[in-house]
Amino acid sequence: FRTIIEPFRIHSVEPIRMTTAAERADRIAGASYNLFQLHADDVLIDLLTDSGTGAMSRDQWAAIQRGDESYAGSPSYFVFRDAVRDLFDFDHVIPVHQGRAAERILFSVLGGPGRVVPNNTHFDTTRANVEATGAEAVDLVIAEGRDPASHHPFKGNMDLDALDALLTARGADVPCVFVTITNNSGGGQPVSLENLRGVRELCDKLGKPLFLDACRFAENAWFIREREAGQGERDVVDIVRDIAALADGMTMSAKKDPMGNIGGWLALDDPDLAQECRNALILTEGFPTYGGLAGRDLEALAQGLKETVQHDYLRYRITSTAYLGEALQKAGIPVLSPIGGHAVYIDARALLPHLDPLQYPGQAVAVALYEIGGVRSCEIGTVMFGRRPDGTEAPAPMDLVRLAIPRRTYTQSHMDYVIEVCQRLAERAHRLPGYRIVEEPNALRHFTARFEPV
Ligand code: F0G
Repeated sequence: FRTIIEPFRIHSVEPIRMTTAAERADRIAGASYNLFQLHADDVLIDLLTDSGTGAMSRDQWAAIQRGDESYAGSPSYFVFRDAVRDLFDFDHVIPVHQGRAAERILFSVLGGPGRVVPNNTHFDTTRANVEATGAEAVDLVIAEGRDPASHHPFKGNMDLDALDALLTARGADVPCVFVTITNNSGGGQPVSLENLRGVRELCDKLGKPLFLDACRFAENAWFIREREAGQGERDVVDIVRDIAALADGMTMSAKKDPMGNIGGWLALDDPDLAQECRNALILTEGFPTYGGLAGRDLEALAQGLKETVQHDYLRYRITSTAYLGEALQKAGIPVLSPIGGHAVYIDARALLPHLDPLQYPGQAVAVALYEIGGVRSCEIGTVMFGRRPDGTEAPAPMDLVRLAIPRRTYTQSHMDYVIEVCQRLAERAHRLPGYRIVEEPNALRHFTARFEPV
């Protein structure tokens, strides 16, 4: 059949509150033109993030009832640990409340002044957690990964020559190599198995551990199945296991592919490093068998891990994201191609050529999408990445606006509405104002900065 349906039916519903254009203009001005400062019930379609915003399944809600809240040694921990290990067979599985806690713990041990951490592209919290220790975060994605128009099938791939050069020049300063799958800040683009093998070889040459930032591992594995030679007939579960076998450990936000509303983990093989991380965990997250989560959260994640690798789900997930992206392309809106796994990224710099990157074209598009139709998106560009640790400001490599799609949450008619809103955006793009920042914190400014149109 031509129509790929949502492989579920709706079991409980949440109302969406309709708003008028006048209300929205008032709300966004009141939020100082920062979409993170809006009240969510003033938003019609919330594409701010796919993180923690998905719908849990009947079986996840049932699993929640089984949650055991023992402080230490809860059976729910072992259910969770085994579900993680079924895919990612690392010796030590340490739960945390979300991905950035795993990052903070790992880099508090491996980071520090003088250290340098390579990644295809650091996500904002990953970069911030590396830099908070005084270490340097270096992005080494292939050149195609920085070109919004390139059609490379694995735009998340690491530039192996650049990694080799960095490891040769500064090997002693590199505590580990990271690969983010899929590459969120670069457009939700996948990394190939072949490229991961190449990274592994370089790590072996210099004796460096390889870590995955694996939030969207199932989407990445589906792209491998679809696009990489020889993978088309394989079960996604086996592809995930191949990916895991190439790494020494992982940080994980379970708010993405594992279908959780909260949760994450740090998993690794090195027993000494695991012990140091557990000690850091106990200080702020909790005992190592719950790590800041309730037993019921652990149960929900264990069930979510089983659901996220199902082919019917992944086919629907990737196809429905492409449905939105291809409709925008047809409407003449420049979007990052190929379409990513969890999100469609509008190339705001190309859509608003009259604005300088330091007038934040991504912010201009994100504000306009809200004003026009109550659609909340997220700037991933100069607002998010423009401020350097030394205090200077420079344009980010790209100015993107991400329409992130929560898992199993919106229907095709919701997406048809978003497409209409984007069409109206395109009509008025040439006259959208730029923005300036009137107040910002030292790090991760996009969450709380206040803006003004210019
Ligand atoms: N790594 C990647 C690639 C991410 O996308 C995120 C979160 C994290 C780490 C941190 O995980 O939020 O659980 O602490 N990304 C969300 C997003 C917030 O909207 O893309 P967390």
